Amino acid sequence: MYKAKVFITRRLPVELGQLEEVATVEVWTERQPPPYDVLSEKAKAIDGLLCLLTDKIDSQLMAAGNLKVISQVAVGYDNIDVAAASKRKIPVGHTPGVLTDATADFAWALLMAAARRVVEADKFTRAGLWRTWEPDLLLGPNITGATLGIVGFGRIGQAVARRAKGFDMQILYTSRYQWEAELEKSLGVEFVPFEQLLQESDFVTVHTPGADDTYHLFSDRQFNLMKPEAILINTARGTVVDPDALYRALVSGKIAAAAVDVTEPEPIPQDSPLLTLDNLIITPHIGSASRQTRSQMAKMAIANLIAGLKGDRLPYCVNPEIYV
Ligand code: GLV
Repeated sequence: MYKAKVFITRRLPVELGQLEEVATVEVWTERQPPPYDVLSEKAKAIDGLLCLLTDKIDSQLMAAGNLKVISQVAVGYDNIDVAAASKRKIPVGHTPGVLTDATADFAWALLMAAARRVVEADKFTRAGLWRTWEPDLLLGPNITGATLGIVGFGRIGQAVARRAKGFDMQILYTSRYQWEAELEKSLGVEFVPFEQLLQESDFVTVHTPGADDTYHLFSDRQFNLMKPEAILINTARGTVVDPDALYRALVSGKIAAAAVDVTEPEPIPQDSPLLTLDNLIITPHIGSASRQTRSQMAKMAIANLIAGLKGDRLPYCVNPEIYV
């Protein structure tokens, strides 16, 4: 009897037993992702692909073989040409929901670290510069009572707002559409146009998908509108913020500081001028990196993959239109 073939582009923190019952599984075990050529070659002879956001899955790769399912271990899927997959009736799976809290927690970790200069303070201490208690040492803005602007108000943006309530913040949000009044009331948030949010917020946190219409949503013009004491947080996608404009904004004092978990490109090049700045915290795309969350993401991706191999509807499908 034919056994399906599956390629997994990295080692995952999860048992593969259930998958191995229905498929022959090959796992790419290197630390770096498989190069595009290798992945395209593999794609010719497999039924299912389990991939990460570091893998470029384009129409050429899909055309090379006979994929039945693409399952991504992430909620975002801007690395996958979903339109091309839909054309070929290939379902694309992703992992929404399970990483919402971990990512919102991390956005808050970055917000607080940037505001209260935690990374600078640690460096200062290790450098032997802590000589005495000083009234004006490493001052930052208040978090409690400040105005928080949330750009993109899906699951993660809303989870960030829930946490902000505990800090008595005024919470503004902007998104493709305004949410129903009941949800706004329960979260204590106010819908405002993007420009107003930029002008009024002390903290601006980004939670949009990476897409054509969010590409460089933050560039010189937007930084010019922000308060000089504002702090930008990005745990969404690096492409949403123009890195050159961010550098100019941080150096010229258009904004006070930033903390980003995502960059354009990723990883950030070691010669990027952004790495020279003390008022910028950069982490290596670890927003969802709690042990429990990463394991749930892997399990969900495997459930999607198995469903696709069996010809069943994926439980978490990005392109459900292929089923109609
Ligand atoms: C991570 O960035 C994800 O999209 O899950």
